[in-house]
Amino acid sequence: MESAIENIVEIRGLWTEFGEFVVHRNLDLDIHRGEIMSIVGGSGTGKTTLLRQMIGLERPTRGTVKILGTTLDLEDAQKLAEIRARWGMLFQQGALFSALSVFDNVALPLYELKALPDDLIEDMVLLKLHMVGLESKHATKMPSDLSGGMIKRVALARALALEPELLFLDEPTAGLDPESCESFVTLIRALHRELGLTVVMVTHDLDTLFELTTRVAVLADQQVIACAPVKEVLGLTHPFIKEFFLGERGQRAMEVLREYPFVV
Ligand SMILES: Nc1ncnc2c1ncn2[C@@H]1O[C@H](COP(=O)(O)OP(=O)(O)O)[C@@H](O)[C@H]1O
Ligand SMILES: [Mg+2]
Repeated sequence: MESAIENIVEIRGLWTEFGEFVVHRNLDLDIHRGEIMSIVGGSGTGKTTLLRQMIGLERPTRGTVKILGTTLDLEDAQKLAEIRARWGMLFQQGALFSALSVFDNVALPLYELKALPDDLIEDMVLLKLHMVGLESKHATKMPSDLSGGMIKRVALARALALEPELLFLDEPTAGLDPESCESFVTLIRALHRELGLTVVMVTHDLDTLFELTTRVAVLADQQVIACAPVKEVLGLTHPFIKEFFLGERGQRAMEVLREYPFVV
């Protein structure tokens, strides 16, 4: 039995212009349910903007974003609020509210979107912390007391608070030391498997990319110039792809490929 591919995100004819400056030019992209899609591209190619457009935080100049079967309409605040509960986002910067404790950071989406009794919220927050590998004793800490790796975990717990189907991660391992990076990657892989999540991730980190990705979308020349499994993308000759995968870091990339032969 063949299972049909379901597009959980469908972007069509998307343009983003800031004045004269064109970031995306007639861009199309499909994300399949259940996959881990990595989006790569040079700095300033519009990766973060594209993520924000996918979740209705920014409006493209032209074109459509369909997510979970619904075409986003930023005018329709009620519909957006309903559908927003079905995805979680881990932002590149400002991952946590510094004035709120770990507990309150994770509880925030629960307070905002659902009328739940306090004891249930407490149970849910502790469960989410547990899911990301944090003990409940950390719940009362403030973000300034946490390491970089722990901050990412708390932000991930918050992104998972409403039990989303879809998880967006913007540079999830940037700035982490190699050990924290590796354990974060392991965590994402486990959550993807156990929760049946679809993951859309922007990353510069080749280890993260090779370890997790089912398909990679390459942003260059204002478009998605390739969207395919890593092995296929490695075979393409576009200058950005050569630079990114096979440039200075090429040796390292090949080592990783030998370490993780299942990606090829
Ligand atoms: N609100 C904005 N106004 C003007 N320019 C913007 C705005 N948001 C992003 N940009 C520009 O659009 C480009 C893409 O930004 P971004 O999506 O953050 O890129 P990336 O995440 O790939 O590094 C950058 O050149 C950035 O300066
Ligand atoms: Mg960015």
